[in-house]
Amino acid sequence: MGIRITVVQGDITEQRVDAVVNAANRGMRGGGGVDGAIHAAGGPEVLADCVRRFPHGLATGAAGWTTAGLMPARWVIHVVGPNHRAGETDRSLLLSCYSGALAVADELGAGTVAFPLVSAGVYGWPRADAIAAALEALGSTPTSVVEARLVAFDAAAHAEIGAALSGRP
Ligand code: AR6
Repeated sequence: MGIRITVVQGDITEQRVDAVVNAANRGMRGGGGVDGAIHAAGGPEVLADCVRRFPHGLATGAAGWTTAGLMPARWVIHVVGPNHRAGETDRSLLLSCYSGALAVADELGAGTVAFPLVSAGVYGWPRADAIAAALEALGSTPTSVVEARLVAFDAAAHAEIGAALSGRP
């Protein structure tokens, strides 16, 4: 059975899935956007686990996991997307956030995983291509994950992801 890619509109922290993906930064000590929401909803145990597991942070394009603390999910899979706004435009780093997150999910035995549009907020990756990269990587990475749920924060992103998904073969 292949992976099923779905889309919902909402807050990633509320998703009832095995793991939620965080659009983190290299420091791995929290931030704004999805990162801020995940640390706020998960509580201090998320940061404590980040400090324990990632004393030196995480490289751009890499993925690693922590507890999800108080969230309904069991794990947070943290990825660091490229900062387009700062000139990091290597698309392979964005693809590797998704493929790396699926590899971590497989290690954990997480069957359902919720993803934000990595790099499409503070990091300024053009949204249409952020969506294309997500679908490309999620659709082509061998994995045991059964559902990759793209969580759109606003109605426009939800419509755009829905259109991109329905245009796929
Ligand atoms: N649920 C789902 N999607 C969300 C949520 C939420 N609660 N909040 C924002 N989004 P961003 P990045 C959407 O900025 O671009 C942080 O400071 C948002 O509309 O969270 O990878 C980190 O610490 C956008 O489409 O992540 C880093 O420093 C998408 O999620 C930096 O920002 C990603 O936006 C990472 O920037």
